[in-house]
Amino acid sequence: MAISTSKTLTTTLEQQYQVVRRRTEEICAPLEIEDYGLQSMPDASPPKWHLAHTTWFFETFILLPHGEGYDAFHPRYGYLFNSYYEAMGVRHPRPQRGLLSRPTVEDVYQYRAYVDDHILAFLRQAAMDPALIDLIRLGLHHEQQHQELLLTDLKHGFHLNPLLPAYREDLAGADHVSLGQTSILKPLGWVGYVGGVHELGAPEQGFAFDNERPRHAVYLQDFSVADRLVTNGEYLEFIEAGGYQNPAYWLAEGWMTVQSEQWQAPLYWEYEAGRWWIMSLGGRRWVCLDEPVCHVSFYEADAYARWAGVRLPTEAEWEVAAQDAPIQGNFAEEDRFHPMPLQGQQRPAQLFGDVWEWTQSAYLPYPGFSPAPGAVGEYNGKFMCNQMVLRGGSCVTSQSHIRASYRNFFYPGARWQFSGIRLAKDGMHLGSQP
Ligand SMILES: [Fe+2]
Repeated sequence: MAISTSKTLTTTLEQQYQVVRRRTEEICAPLEIEDYGLQSMPDASPPKWHLAHTTWFFETFILLPHGEGYDAFHPRYGYLFNSYYEAMGVRHPRPQRGLLSRPTVEDVYQYRAYVDDHILAFLRQAAMDPALIDLIRLGLHHEQQHQELLLTDLKHGFHLNPLLPAYREDLAGADHVSLGQTSILKPLGWVGYVGGVHELGAPEQGFAFDNERPRHAVYLQDFSVADRLVTNGEYLEFIEAGGYQNPAYWLAEGWMTVQSEQWQAPLYWEYEAGRWWIMSLGGRRWVCLDEPVCHVSFYEADAYARWAGVRLPTEAEWEVAAQDAPIQGNFAEEDRFHPMPLQGQQRPAQLFGDVWEWTQSAYLPYPGFSPAPGAVGEYNGKFMCNQMVLRGGSCVTSQSHIRASYRNFFYPGARWQFSGIRLAKDGMHLGSQP
């Protein structure tokens, strides 16, 4: 019985491994060879680096310590492709990843094939220690995170190219151009929740990152969340009302950033020839008023909420609203890689997919949090300072990667992720207007 359980697990993991690894290469398939080295800013990494670093993760944490007789593919790749793990030694400076013309793209694909062969052989032979299964699952979820980063980083790089190249000309969503400048959405409504003691965080069973545990009780006041995301059209009202010119709406750090960065609209918005345009992975297009606003920082989300007379949800409120909702929405599997106007009748809608939703919660450890043992303990815990939590996944997140308890986190000024706005407010408001 124990053997058959182990075999089933192994087979499933083997299939999951192949699906996830193949997906990364599918994302890169439309690229030209010149695109693979593109690094548009220190926060972003070249596609070639993402391909190699995700491979380094399996080599470093599985094959080198646990693969009997395994020889590293290259003795210097550990230096080149370690991201931030101090326990694994010194590493190549992050801002200089775009300088690596060698190894070549072909070398990196060979590295992937070499590690894949060894991991698959390892999965077929090794006794499945539960801790090792967890580590391989972590590697797969890590790779899914990098699949998203591949697309966000490519979008940023292509936006800085005056030719405004499309990642893929054939991406769905061009039909939304015809919706253009007219909104067909109903006004924002509210869904109320009763306060009291609620449970938060991932259960003990099933995969979750260490930062989602332990599950614990929180006390909440009555609250309401918006029944959909804030749209481009609604955000445009904030812009046209002088939102970016009035310090009254902004946190001090946000206002400083607006001035120093000369922000006047979300990232990728440009006003030209009498209309607003945005950059998408399918190329440049008109702003569609009914699409969820995207590529805003926490500062902008917070300022918009203040201008609207309400606030952002806490991460606990967001999770209470989401924990019984189906994990459905506009994910990477939809093959749009762009937020979509509201679909369906669910309330609240768009909790999953489309855009990561900024919360007003600082990224902090849950009560009783302990990082995973070993070097992978650096995965999440050491970043619990000065960042804000985002929830729900985006149009470039894999559906199989997201959960109601999933905590993403970014610095409050970051805008290149697919990040947007859901509003919340105190009390049980069931009306249709904020
Ligand atoms: Fe990573």
